[in-house]
Amino acid sequence: MAPRLLRRSKTETRAKASPNGTRPSHVEQPARPKRPAHVPRHVAIIMDGNGRWAKERGLSRQKGHRAGAENIRRVIRGMGERGVEVLTLYAFSTENWTRPRTEVSALIRLIPRFLKSELKELHENGVRLVHIGDLQALDEKIRRQVEDAIELTKDNRRMTVALAFNYGGRAEIVEAVRRIVAEKTPAGRIDEALLSSHLYTAAIGDPDLIVRTAGEMRLSNFLLWQAAYAEFYSTPAYWPDFDGEEMDRALEAYARRVRKFGAVEPKAVRNGTKPSK
Ligand code: FPP
Repeated sequence: MAPRLLRRSKTETRAKASPNGTRPSHVEQPARPKRPAHVPRHVAIIMDGNGRWAKERGLSRQKGHRAGAENIRRVIRGMGERGVEVLTLYAFSTENWTRPRTEVSALIRLIPRFLKSELKELHENGVRLVHIGDLQALDEKIRRQVEDAIELTKDNRRMTVALAFNYGGRAEIVEAVRRIVAEKTPAGRIDEALLSSHLYTAAIGDPDLIVRTAGEMRLSNFLLWQAAYAEFYSTPAYWPDFDGEEMDRALEAYARRVRKFGAVEPKAVRNGTKPSK
């Protein structure tokens, strides 16, 4: 079994913590275990179904989002334990601003809440936090909190968690093209690698597996360029119910896929040599 990601006991954590409660730089961060070949390096998740989850329980949509935010901890830990190196979570799209104001502000408030409850432990466990999307639309205080969290964890190497907040795939491509034009790049030098290097995801690469919860089968403007050869998996489970068994099912489905990248076998890559089911 893979080593646990968030596995230190409270006593261990206390012993290693610095006065401001974070891992001091001289303490070695947890090593990244070797990822088995059938495990995707990068998993990206469209966290859908918080509203339906809440409705079925007679709760407000806000409560559903809160339950969804709480599930993030379980999924970061679970994916890390299973060997995933990069986890991208679609938390708020550029289109989500059209939701009722109370819902939008409840979603935005989840960011500082998440950082307050999770950042210390994520950092102690070698998790690097990054953001994809446009932070400018956020309140300055929250934006700073996100930037500080990114700065604090920037050297962590155990796992990367990318929070997609105010993210839109089309806007990302437009923004990349604008920057390429502003750099006065000759047309002949523009290729796929150059465009990729101007996307928000330049440092984390393309997802191998995109998971969508709550049964929908669409990308909803998520990682449009980067999804070119991603495997897609959809589960009827609502996001707050996406647990360890659900993670196993998604990763097992991925392990059974043959990735062709436009080629035919034997050039195609078989993810798992021995499917587990
Ligand atoms: C879509 O489900 C979900 C969202 C628009 C928000 C997802 C956000 C989280 C899981 C929490 C974010 C956490 C942080 C830390 C920012 P929906 O509400 O549209 O569900 P429905 O389709 O069932 O109504």
